Amino acid sequence: MGKGGVGKSTSSALTALHLASKGHKVRLVSMDPAHNQSDIFKKTFSDKFLKINNNLSVKEVDVGRWIDKYLKEMQEQVKRSYSYLTAFNLENYLDILKFSPGMEEYALLLAYREIRNSANEADYLVFDMPPTALTLKFFGLPDVSLTWLENLLALRNKIIEKKEIIARVKLGKKEIETDKIRNKLYQQIEEYHSIKQVFKDTSKTSLNLVMNTDKLSFAESQLIVNNLAKFNVIISNVFLNKWDNDFNISEIEERYKECKLQVFPLSETPLLGVDTLNSYLKKLSGFIEI
Ligand SMILES: Nc1ncnc2c1ncn2[C@@H]1O[C@H](COP(=O)(O)OP(=O)(O)O)[C@@H](O)[C@H]1O
Ligand SMILES: [Mg+2]
Repeated sequence: MGKGGVGKSTSSALTALHLASKGHKVRLVSMDPAHNQSDIFKKTFSDKFLKINNNLSVKEVDVGRWIDKYLKEMQEQVKRSYSYLTAFNLENYLDILKFSPGMEEYALLLAYREIRNSANEADYLVFDMPPTALTLKFFGLPDVSLTWLENLLALRNKIIEKKEIIARVKLGKKEIETDKIRNKLYQQIEEYHSIKQVFKDTSKTSLNLVMNTDKLSFAESQLIVNNLAKFNVIISNVFLNKWDNDFNISEIEERYKECKLQVFPLSETPLLGVDTLNSYLKKLSGFIEI
């Protein structure tokens, strides 16, 4: 995470190449709807992983596709659960819902979940994240959704209670069939809890804060740290990028005592193409353990 232009995409490419060079199986995923990895690697990436070398493959998440997929699934589910709603023209609503607030972070979370669930052979997944506002929404989504879901569950339970009373009076039924909507709510609550656990667990998720030596990127970094704390998510590593010799790193070391610090010096040549990135990595004095 970090302010626009600090080097999130570049440092995620460097991190992925570094881990791959150590022999790990790495997948680099661009989650920024305005993708940059194709330019950085000078290759054309898509929504499917493309192999860069034996250990590294890269893809750029197609956010639009995930939004469409989610809306289609939701439509099916609504049709199944509330058959009486088919009188309404759901398709028309879905076309508009595509542009509804919240869709992008939801699509990113679905993509994240699928990538994580199907990454058995990978040792590391490196995510190049979008600008701060969207990334904060992404990390906040499990909490926001859980608040909604828990309220919906309480409501559903009340409805079920009333339905049971009516069913008993009308039919003298003892066995009430399981409620599909309640089951779906339980399932979603479980899924969000498990994603939340992964985000919070620093042995599974290592969040890297990228900053430069200027005041604006410092300020945005602090804002990020404070906001993430609300979701109990913490920063593991700080990447000080575009560092030049004149800048004294002690202020950053002091402020981010709990984090490991990785310094990436300012490069005179543009950091584009695998060969350039690899030779830049070779010149580094060291790379922290991610
Ligand atoms: N260490 C560096 N030295 C020189 N230029 C850099 C360095 N890191 C990034 N850049 C350049 O800065 C610009 C923004 O980097 P980018 O990785 O796209 O940032 P972000 O993803 O945070 O928006 C790009 O032109 C990139 O090549
Ligand atoms: Mg970027």
